[in-house]
Amino acid sequence: MLQKPCYILGIESSCDDTAAAILKDDFVLSNIVANQQVHMAYGGVVPELASREHQKNIIPVVNEALKKAKIKKEELSAIAFTRGPGLLGSLLVGSSFAKSLSMGLKIPLIEVNHLQSHILAHFIEDKSEKPNFPFLGITLSGGHTQIVLVNDYFNMEIIGTTIDDAIGEAFDKCGKTLGLNYPAGPEIDRLSKKSTENTYQFPIPNVKGFDVSYSGFKTSVINFINKSIKNDDKFIKNNLPNLCFSIQYTLIEIILKKIKLAVKETKITTIAIGGGVSANSHLRMILKNLAIEHNWKVFMPKLEYTTDNAAMIGIVGYLKYLKKDFSDLAVDSKARLKM
Ligand code: KG4
Ligand code: ZN
Repeated sequence: MLQKPCYILGIESSCDDTAAAILKDDFVLSNIVANQQVHMAYGGVVPELASREHQKNIIPVVNEALKKAKIKKEELSAIAFTRGPGLLGSLLVGSSFAKSLSMGLKIPLIEVNHLQSHILAHFIEDKSEKPNFPFLGITLSGGHTQIVLVNDYFNMEIIGTTIDDAIGEAFDKCGKTLGLNYPAGPEIDRLSKKSTENTYQFPIPNVKGFDVSYSGFKTSVINFINKSIKNDDKFIKNNLPNLCFSIQYTLIEIILKKIKLAVKETKITTIAIGGGVSANSHLRMILKNLAIEHNWKVFMPKLEYTTDNAAMIGIVGYLKYLKKDFSDLAVDSKARLKM
């Protein structure tokens, strides 16, 4: 007998993107993201505004995902949503919506850990090779920077993390000092392409083990820029691509140093990156070259699955659906949910 396909609705609302996706088993039928522009003027995410925007966006975004997938909500098999970590007000919008819909449709509810989903996004079906266990999952986002030993889908151990700021946060804060809009990561990436060398040679911090630090680096960049514009008020304008290149180069070097150390010590040569910063073109090029040089297997998600999206929530929903790992309606959102 042919098994019926399962249709999963994934919902992501942990930060400032309202996203919904429909998966048919492990295949993505639709993946809709509404970015919130309101934060741009503030140079970072304003939590209260984020939750209000999620409330406005969630129904249109889910409707759009269903329409694009050409299915009716009555055909859904389960609803997966981000339980945490993230901004509590934002998480609550997604979880309340998911709970009400699962109750109304009488279908299972599945909680998803946002950080696991950035790693498990590699198992979305797209006819490409998938990473074999164990592998090193590298999560690089606005809120997190982690080196994770991935033994199996749901057996993950964080072996390295930032002791202060996340790599994406450092991209965004350095960019803000340069006068770039939030989020500055993509703009730094774009402007760096107009330069070819590490002109400013910012220091790489010494942190033990597989941990990293970005706060000291960020402060040294901000101090350097503030000092330079005191002497020359056109300093940023005249040196923007070189400044972007040096900032990006050092931010990436800091994590690369620890990836190389993790490969050396764990002897695991399969690496899968994820999170918004995994879209960075310099990082992708370096990892591609390292893979050739050292015979590593490096997996990089398609760009649409790097920054926050609901397809990654949907794939975790599918993997949990297979195990019948369902959640109770009483499940609470957790801003600091552990892996
Ligand atoms: O994973 P994500 O969408 O949200 C969080 O879970 O935080 O990551 C957002 C972060 C932002 O800091 C943004 O500046 C950064 O990812 N980002 C990039 C690039 N695209 C997004 N950073 C560097 N280069 C990029 N191309
Ligand atoms: Zn994320």
